[in-house]
Amino acid sequence: MTTGLVEPPERDGGAVPSIRVGAKKGRNVAAMGTAKKKPRLHNAVGLQRLFMLCRQVFDGVPGSVPSSRDVQRLCDILDGMTPEDVGLSSNLQFFQPKTKVEGNPRVTFTTIYNCDNFSLCLFFLPANAVIPLHNHPGMTVFSKLLLGSLHIKAYDWLDRDSELSSRADAVKEGIGRRLARLKADKIFTAPCSTSVLYPTFGGNIHEFKAITPCAVLDVLGPPYTMDDGRDCSYYRDIPFNPSSKAEEDGELYGWLEEIEMPKDGEMDVIQYLGPQVVE
Ligand SMILES: [Fe+2]
Repeated sequence: MTTGLVEPPERDGGAVPSIRVGAKKGRNVAAMGTAKKKPRLHNAVGLQRLFMLCRQVFDGVPGSVPSSRDVQRLCDILDGMTPEDVGLSSNLQFFQPKTKVEGNPRVTFTTIYNCDNFSLCLFFLPANAVIPLHNHPGMTVFSKLLLGSLHIKAYDWLDRDSELSSRADAVKEGIGRRLARLKADKIFTAPCSTSVLYPTFGGNIHEFKAITPCAVLDVLGPPYTMDDGRDCSYYRDIPFNPSSKAEEDGELYGWLEEIEMPKDGEMDVIQYLGPQVVE
């Protein structure tokens, strides 16, 4: 591990991560890692610009969604961000594992900044790791893949009174399930553009599967909180029997069924020691 860098865990053969693990609620989580020194790769400008704009854009009004202009401004900053902006480097051993990981390794998570209106988070996915299909209730989320190749599958709910949802066969088949339209099902490789999802469109329910070790920077506005009914729900998707209607409009659909949090939904939490934001 390196001092001052956000180094995700190394998991050779499922070994315990060689970092201090432990969630610290609050802002500017600090301190992780030890061992040999490497040059600091901090470049706080990009992160600070992102933070300042988030403070302007996310006003904390329940249900509010950033304007298209503000979304574009945030995307412009995020598109220009590099791993070094959050203290990462593709040279870190996590991104160049010496051994192949078996099974589905756990995802690691760290919080750069968190307040009532928004949060800035990093996710580290070893190859084959999965963040299961989950939703973002009432949230606008920006995801910037900083490193790696990631398969993203994303759905949006179909209106319950839509023609497809109300068809007799769909109603019969859909007991305990709800129809959703497939919005994305493809592999993204860094560097790539920022993905944005909204409360009711843009792929609000998504799943990440790491093809190679990945780092994803997320901006969540507002963050998850059970207090305001923004808890995270998990789903499994079931193929929707293709119908003439589905074939006609060229869209793909799936049934989503809510499930308990899958085992691979559990994450390790580490502390963040990359560039800090200045309030
Ligand atoms: Fe998500």
